[in-house]
Amino acid sequence: MGDLTQPKVALTFDDGPGRHTARLLEVLATQDVRATFFLVGREVAAHPDLARAQAEAGHAVGNHSFTHPDLTTLGATDLADEVDRTSEAIAAATGIQPTLARPPYGATDPTVAGVLAERGLVEVLWDVDTGDWKGQDAATTARNALSAAHDGAVILMHDTLETTVDAVPAIVDGLRERGFTFVTVPDLSGT
Ligand code: NI
Repeated sequence: MGDLTQPKVALTFDDGPGRHTARLLEVLATQDVRATFFLVGREVAAHPDLARAQAEAGHAVGNHSFTHPDLTTLGATDLADEVDRTSEAIAAATGIQPTLARPPYGATDPTVAGVLAERGLVEVLWDVDTGDWKGQDAATTARNALSAAHDGAVILMHDTLETTVDAVPAIVDGLRERGFTFVTVPDLSGT
């Protein structure tokens, strides 16, 4: 969709909110970038102020389960609990009922997809993995993001990692130089 002269990417940050999230929010505000956060419910319950700050800053917030299990390994009751408790925690913290979900590890199957769909949650994976979770340095994360970015890309990162927050300014600057704009996942997909 959209304007061919202005390629778009969605920066996504999983597993928080955590102890590096506030600094990331400052970086994103300074650079006037809107991103998408896939939140772990128990972390939202521990840091509702950070989830609220994300939503108030115009970032999209989605469901990333309550305790970050592989959802495909769970029975029906546990699976529903992981999803529902997280949406409830996000709604309690932000006032927003989430409409996006990313299964931990990207692990999904028809059962998981069905549980999400029943709840009006659009399943969102990614198409660029920066590899930030592999213990690499910030320069490597930035290089990976910049080399793989393309129009419409959904870029996977984690705001639980200090090196990731360190990498964001270079990613934003590098993509802006190439004409990219930064949108949330709903704005990218039109959902
Ligand atoms: Ni995760």
